[in-house]
Amino acid sequence: MAIMSRGSFHALLTLSAFMIPATMLCQNEQYDTAWQLSHATWYGEPEGDGSDGGACGFGVLAGTSYTSNIAAGSSPIFKDGEGCGACYQIKCIKNELCKTEPITVVITDLCPGGDFCEGKVHFDLSGTAFGNLAVSGKNSDLRAVGVLDLEYMRVPCSYPGQNVAFQIDPASNSQWLSIVVKYEAGPGNLQLVELQEAGSSTWQSCTRNWGANWSFNGQLKGPLSVRLTSGISGKVLVSRNSIPEAWQPGYTYASGVQITS
Ligand SMILES: *[C@@H]1O[C@H](CO)[C@@H](O)[C@H](O)[C@H]1NC(C)=O
Repeated sequence: MAIMSRGSFHALLTLSAFMIPATMLCQNEQYDTAWQLSHATWYGEPEGDGSDGGACGFGVLAGTSYTSNIAAGSSPIFKDGEGCGACYQIKCIKNELCKTEPITVVITDLCPGGDFCEGKVHFDLSGTAFGNLAVSGKNSDLRAVGVLDLEYMRVPCSYPGQNVAFQIDPASNSQWLSIVVKYEAGPGNLQLVELQEAGSSTWQSCTRNWGANWSFNGQLKGPLSVRLTSGISGKVLVSRNSIPEAWQPGYTYASGVQITS
């Protein structure tokens, strides 16, 4: 059930790059303490990751710490990109194929509209995640149902043995540095990303381009330190000198740090 084509994603990306304010701090964000009601559909390959990448900018997910339990959130979940990386426990209900234990999914994409996503909370799951809501052996039977009643709850993310990583956008150059922040545990999303040049004590704010994609316009002398302010707790984490002086477009650098709550 492919709700979003690659074309519509790119059109959206181009438009939104100009519409999203530099920083949109979310004040009322919190983990949920009770189940809330929604619906789920699925998109992409039956056993796949939804899209190969997705609007958050996390890139190819297969074989990474994101696993394949991912979801495209409608705009109340995607929140103009602020919801990227957030984790939800979900379980389907009102169908005998639904197992009772919830699974955890991470938001990696936007479900931009259509009958299901327009104007309401909705989870468009990867085929894998949708199938994983089923009792044992019934994954494809459940996928054939197509649309499910869902209960969901925002929960902390967990990436055992995996620290935050900084993926340098392939289009970055000496005057413009764009970074996708990946694998953040706990809240999973960020309010702010700041950079500090070698030998400086000043933190310079990045702008959220889109999703988990932050950029800095101007020349910076590395190695660069990165300061992250998480969603929900507002926890601040400093990763010292993690982006080397001779950083390369397209490379991913380890942060050596992780947000836990
Ligand atoms: C990050 O944002 C920039 C600017 O909008 C864009 O050129 C780039 O493709 C984005 N990167 C990813 C991985 O989405």
